[in-house]
Amino acid sequence: MSIGLERLKGRVVLVTGAASGIGLATATALVDAGARVHATDFRAPLAEERLGAHRFAAGMLAVHQLDVTDPAAVEALVDRIGEEAPLDALVCCAGTNIPDRHMEQLTDAGWRLLLETNLTGVFSCFRAAMPQLRRTRGHAVVVSSVSALWPDASGPAYQASKAGVLALVRAVALEEHERGVRFTSILPAMVATEILDKRPEPPPPEMRGQCLQPEDVAATIIFALSLPERACVAELSVLPNALQVLGRT
Ligand code: NAI
Repeated sequence: MSIGLERLKGRVVLVTGAASGIGLATATALVDAGARVHATDFRAPLAEERLGAHRFAAGMLAVHQLDVTDPAAVEALVDRIGEEAPLDALVCCAGTNIPDRHMEQLTDAGWRLLLETNLTGVFSCFRAAMPQLRRTRGHAVVVSSVSALWPDASGPAYQASKAGVLALVRAVALEEHERGVRFTSILPAMVATEILDKRPEPPPPEMRGQCLQPEDVAATIIFALSLPERACVAELSVLPNALQVLGRT
């Protein structure tokens, strides 16, 4: 077993957005490392099928229906999980984008969907999970985006949501680190996942082949989670080598 992975054994981790892409790869890697995983998505049956949930012993992997834009549902699920065993870690991967993303196309509904999913959804998860994470001196990992750092083709609402979530994590980390809670923002560039199908012009297969793969981003999340308690990866940009250098897409 590689350095630090043994620290994940038995840890209770909730993952959002686990039906697809980065969340699915992360939930899979966590289960493989022996963590006790609560995999959540608003497409729970798909998460169940893709994770092969039936293969796992009770207590190792549970799949839950969860829409992160419903704060009451987030709180109810997190509380229910905490009654069994408090969360050691929260990994926020749920996120979305829309095809009509340019300023001249953006509607109120599109703006709200992206802000409520990508930003408020993380806030709701933080608010619900923080009492448990304080108790366990736990760790929250959030998938932001390099588009929080410089503009790209992902659109103003998406970039506002991702810059907002980066600021949210920085602010909460400042308040909570003295209680022992660690926070990590992962900032990937282009990853070959279903979210690319929502681009106005979805990229062709040859470009997807040059992208990061979801497993690459999952590996960075596992790395952050597996460091000793004294160490914290605050922010980590991850780029597909063939496509992108910092600041230039
Ligand atoms: P994906 O589309 O494969 O996965 C997103 C998951 O979130 C899906 O399973 C979806 O069902 C779930 N989801 C969406 N809205 C939800 C809601 N309201 N409640 C619960 N679940 C919901 O895309 P990907 O790439 O794996 O996205 C994961 C995160 O990574 C997102 O936050 C995305 O913005 C971010 N990201 C993705 C990049 C990329 O190029 N793919 C680059 C940078 C960041």
